[in-house]
Amino acid sequence: MSDRTEIQEIFNRIAPVYDRLNDRLSFGQHRIWKQMAVKWSRAGSGDLCLDLCCGSGDLALLLAREVGTRGKVFGLDFSVEQLAIARSRNKPFTSKLSPIVWREGDALDLPFADNYFDAITMGYGLRNVLDIPRCLQELHRVLKPNASAAILDMHRPSSPLMRQFQQWYLDYFVVPTAQMMGLTEEYAYISPSLDKFPTGKEQVALAHKAGFVKATHYPIAGAMMGVLVLKKV
Ligand SMILES: C[S@@+](CC[C@H](N)C(=O)[O-])C[C@H]1O[C@@H](n2cnc3c(N)ncnc32)[C@H](O)[C@@H]1O
Repeated sequence: MSDRTEIQEIFNRIAPVYDRLNDRLSFGQHRIWKQMAVKWSRAGSGDLCLDLCCGSGDLALLLAREVGTRGKVFGLDFSVEQLAIARSRNKPFTSKLSPIVWREGDALDLPFADNYFDAITMGYGLRNVLDIPRCLQELHRVLKPNASAAILDMHRPSSPLMRQFQQWYLDYFVVPTAQMMGLTEEYAYISPSLDKFPTGKEQVALAHKAGFVKATHYPIAGAMMGVLVLKKV
């Protein structure tokens, strides 16, 4: 994917089937990985939280459960179609969740004040932004001192065997499944995006450069993905 509009269009196009495909492609496991990211973000009761690149809102909804009615959650994405689905899933007056503010915006230029959030999550977003260092700087800027962020994403595993398995899974399961829903190109981009995406170790180095003193990458799912946990001091 080369430019911002192209990325936006892809995520707008896949919005109607995105949740169904996630469940199918991960055998429902993405729900567990997202819960892990929320725990690692250390979001708690009464907190003000951000889910960056929120898409259809899975992580924002999990955050809302953690912060309760005294807290508040923002979900930010630049795909209007994904945000429309997120809005339809969050009915503030019929649930005990905190209200979620769905905001159209750019992860590279966040519309929030410095030192604003108690916790931030980001799921499968960092690999899709055009400028990873800039995104990490923005995350650092809007986090409060002592607050944490948890960034969940796929990456290439270091073990050659697991790399082979990941490629097989992408070529023979992910792309054909997406193809059945008329979305071949939209999912074929995952493999080249993984080739460009930093490894866990590289993500930690980029986080340090962005100003995070504490950065740890936890590999999960056979090291085919991981959670980068950041703390601002
Ligand atoms: C793979 S989806 C992940 C959605 C959701 N976080 C999840 O885990 O299901 C990536 C999301 O990142 C959003 N995105 C990519 N680049 C962005 C940017 N620069 N600013 C805001 N959103 C962006 C896309 O619109 C898309 O909804």
